[in-house]
Amino acid sequence: MVAGRPAARLRGGDRILWGVATSAFQIEGSLAADGRGPSIWDAFASDDGETGAVACDHYRRWRQDVDLIASLGVDAYRFSIAWPRLLPEGAGRVEQRGVDHYSRLIDALLERGIEPVVTLYHWDLPAAYDWRNRETAERFAEFATLCYKHYGDRVKWWLTINEPWIVGLLGFLLGLHAPGIKDDLLGEVTAFHHLLLAHGLATEAYGHEQNIGIALNLFPHYPASEQPADADAAHGSDGYTNRWFLDPLYGRGYPDDQRQRYEELVGPLDFIRDGDLEMIAAPTEYLGVNYYAPRVIEARPDDKPWPWRVVVPSQWKTTAGFTGGVASTDAGTPIVPSGLTDLLMRLHHDYGPRIMITENGAVFPESPHDERRVQFLKDHVVAMEAAIEQGVDVIGYCHWSLMDNFEWKLGYAQRFGLVHVDYETQERTVKDSGRAYRELIRSRR
Ligand code: FCB
Repeated sequence: MVAGRPAARLRGGDRILWGVATSAFQIEGSLAADGRGPSIWDAFASDDGETGAVACDHYRRWRQDVDLIASLGVDAYRFSIAWPRLLPEGAGRVEQRGVDHYSRLIDALLERGIEPVVTLYHWDLPAAYDWRNRETAERFAEFATLCYKHYGDRVKWWLTINEPWIVGLLGFLLGLHAPGIKDDLLGEVTAFHHLLLAHGLATEAYGHEQNIGIALNLFPHYPASEQPADADAAHGSDGYTNRWFLDPLYGRGYPDDQRQRYEELVGPLDFIRDGDLEMIAAPTEYLGVNYYAPRVIEARPDDKPWPWRVVVPSQWKTTAGFTGGVASTDAGTPIVPSGLTDLLMRLHHDYGPRIMITENGAVFPESPHDERRVQFLKDHVVAMEAAIEQGVDVIGYCHWSLMDNFEWKLGYAQRFGLVHVDYETQERTVKDSGRAYRELIRSRR
């Protein structure tokens, strides 16, 4: 057991930790600096041929970026530690320069009164590994243990894995994210299992349940019509995206409906070994929730592999009734703040976790006058507060993202930042949304 700093426990709603979020690969650049080893993302280019080679040059500009974070008046900064910086080969030899880098970052944050919220895996897997192999989960737990050892005296908030659903779906079924494998449905579900196992092993290694959790991207689901077939399809899609992760994490094992669908297509899930489900259900004290948009689902009995489809309706049905026309971000994602309330209420009723919103944000190109992001931010915070008023235990909100960055397959064109980054000069400019966030936080205190 590795002891973390005694947790300063928050009570949901009493005091929200207001934060901003990033991940290592999306901002750091300097991929060969200080002995970093290769990751599966290094050569995986965006649609426009861009890579994370430079990104926001944050690995070199981190001091200035800590000042920037402090200038936003936030309490917390969610960032990730690049596994290949600490363990260049994935395991074994430790690179001290990598260890020291994050140690200095953590100290600088704490000096400014900013809580580090540390993600251990945000997709930059050491190049030698593959989530379809069970060994990756074991190596991850060793990496996590190394992080607890070096930073556990100062870091109170840990997140094991970021968005296992996206890792499996985009990495092994759609081929849109590294390692870029397509149509490997067995690979997808195997990767899901090993990611959950990695979470369980790392949680167990941490030794106590306080202040450690996983960050899931979750979707409130709505049937596209009153037809029972659409309601069934929405339940099915919920099984694939939400329950497949939540049920085993909260001790219920994999949901039967989705398990059957998998088994019909890929055969028995014999990569699940005795004891795995107990490990995955290792108690955690909080759940990280990444919320971007809901899913409205229509039954499509002939679609493969799943008999449903996500549709974008012109009207949006929520438990609070219908909204009018649905606005969307420049990435085409519908903007539905009430979906966040619905999602939080559902999690509260079905699983009862303490929750930190670990990501929420949108693509809007305007800068510095990004009125649409200002509105998005306010509306989602109000939606979160509506859930808190109804008893949901929410302890934090981290906006995605601190600054514009490398948006994976979509490259640099998609801007999520509260701060604009000029990629020619690396100049940072706080947008109106950054200022609005500072005011919002001040008003909530
Ligand atoms: C999430 C990812 C994050 C970023 C946002 C926009 O799925 O966790 O890295 O790409 O989406």
